[in-house]
Amino acid sequence: MRKQVIAGNWKMNGTIASGSILIEAFTSFLGDKDLDCEIVVCPPFTALERAVCLTKNTQVSVGAQNMDYHDAGAFTGEVSPLMLMEVGVSYVIIGHSERREYYGETDAMVNEKIKSAFFHNLQPIVCVGESLEQREANETISFIHGQLKRALQDIPADQVEKLIIAYEPIWAIGTGKTATADQAEKVCKSIREYIAELYTPNVADLVRIQYGGSVKANNAREILSEPNIDGALVGGASLIVDEFTKIIMAAQELSN
Ligand code: 13P
Repeated sequence: MRKQVIAGNWKMNGTIASGSILIEAFTSFLGDKDLDCEIVVCPPFTALERAVCLTKNTQVSVGAQNMDYHDAGAFTGEVSPLMLMEVGVSYVIIGHSERREYYGETDAMVNEKIKSAFFHNLQPIVCVGESLEQREANETISFIHGQLKRALQDIPADQVEKLIIAYEPIWAIGTGKTATADQAEKVCKSIREYIAELYTPNVADLVRIQYGGSVKANNAREILSEPNIDGALVGGASLIVDEFTKIIMAAQELSN
């Protein structure tokens, strides 16, 4: 059975101080509960080191929201995988739609970043998702398959089976408009089928696929119950203790 993974993407929100309060609240809520799901928080770069310290010996792991794919060099403003490793980060979000839309990130860059993340033993969470126009033009599946094909170019099966793919329809991000569980499941299932086509059914069976886009405490259970959805990438609600802990508990109850 695939392990559910609940990740909180804080985006460009909070300070080291406010992030610490959040993490302390999550970790004390989780206490020594025996969790069957993975919990990840992804604060802004400046708060990563503190987050790693505060989550030591807890069930919460820390991820970055982005990284460059080079190890070092003249890349002003970027952060390398080696730097993330140095602070003790273990996950990295790659190709979020906000990175693609506002910073021109391409599938080719996403591909390089996945290779680099695996090389450095960072767990990539790779985002894909369609715009409203693409959904309305019935292009959702073909667009996402295209994104995946380019993102996974030359990435071997033994790495792909470890991937976390986050299906995040752009029209559902931060809008309060969640995809219905049925809409989300349809796309996640098609992602799994496409991985089976590109690799093998066994690889497709192992890869974990999250849904992201206005996941809240009140819709998490329905979404996470879908057979091809193995977790959630949560934005806004991951900044609210009561919301995020309820989403975690929904995943936990479904994992039992
Ligand atoms: P919201 O949960 O705020 O819609 O954000 C989703 C997201 O983009 C997570 O990466």
